[in-house]
Amino acid sequence: MKHESLRDLATRRGLWIGCAVEPAQLHDDPACREIVTREFNCITAENCMKFDALQPERGVFTFDVADRLLDFAAEHGMAVRGHTLVWHNALPAWLKERPLGRAEALDLLQQHIETVVTHFKGRLPWWDVVNEVIDDGFPGYRLKHNLWYRAIGEDYLELAFRWAHAADPASLLFYNDYDLQSGEQKFGRTLEMIRMLQARHAPLHGLGFQFHTMPPDAPSQEAFLARLQRVRDDLGLVAHLTEIDINLSAALDPGELEQQAEVYRSILAAAMASGNCPVFITWGVCDKYTWVRRFTEGRRDHPLLFDKNYQAKPAYYALCDLLRSQAG
Ligand code: G3I
Repeated sequence: MKHESLRDLATRRGLWIGCAVEPAQLHDDPACREIVTREFNCITAENCMKFDALQPERGVFTFDVADRLLDFAAEHGMAVRGHTLVWHNALPAWLKERPLGRAEALDLLQQHIETVVTHFKGRLPWWDVVNEVIDDGFPGYRLKHNLWYRAIGEDYLELAFRWAHAADPASLLFYNDYDLQSGEQKFGRTLEMIRMLQARHAPLHGLGFQFHTMPPDAPSQEAFLARLQRVRDDLGLVAHLTEIDINLSAALDPGELEQQAEVYRSILAAAMASGNCPVFITWGVCDKYTWVRRFTEGRRDHPLLFDKNYQAKPAYYALCDLLRSQAG
């Protein structure tokens, strides 16, 4: 019998399993491209749809790289998550060269969101509209005093969702953040912010759990299922797993790959049991391209389903076994 890929198994169960990619990985690395098209039915642009990539100069929008990625996805029957419209990072130099007044900041943010979402209209079923605005470096987890907050105030949040929804009413709009999968403070503060936006009738449809973690810090399957159920029952939102990587020690200690496999399995099992988390995206195709090595200065590594030589790891097989066992 033909080996069923992760993509085949996920598609059969109505799930989207994907990865973050850079265009060069698809266009210049055949082994990487083969994994993406064989094993995943959705992708996220790791960087080429961020503010600095799409508007490198004021008023000058460059969509060619992102359009090639979308064309690739369409050619291979893959969905694409839009990432990301409003963030404190990946901002072009021209935007940061001097403080912005409220009126100018409103104009710039509205123009960026409307131009970008309109350009991709009908091609992105989901958007990470706002990314990482809870300041976990501040006692009480206030809203991050990023460039937009400083110039506009907190109403930039609801306006961003309104502008995105007006530009593409069919796209489901997400708030996306890290370290929401466990711990109470940041998750609780995020729920408060979402309730504030809902009270203002902001068109917010989903919550993205980035899920960058390591085995000892990962929540149990039951605990994460309970969290996904709160997103549905308390907020009426859908959840997505948007940037999963389960990083290990660079030296790869004995048993770590098996611990990693169990974390990946438990996350997908919780997502499937919740019935409210249909998207499961890893932050990268294979360990060869992970951001983790650079971010941890080489201390942490091996976070993904495929290794540096494009070989499937125990975590990949754990996901396939789980999907195969949940006969659908
Ligand atoms: O493309 C330029 C290259 O031309 C230049 O020579 C080089 C010089 O450093 O920089 C390259 O751009 C880098 C880009 O990644 C592509 O490699 C940027 O400097 C670097 O800041 C950027 O890092 C990305 C980071 O977000 C910031 O945008 C990481 O790849 C990406 O994995 C990471 O992803 C974020 C999510 O968007 C949000 N959640 C957290 C996650 C991890 O930080």
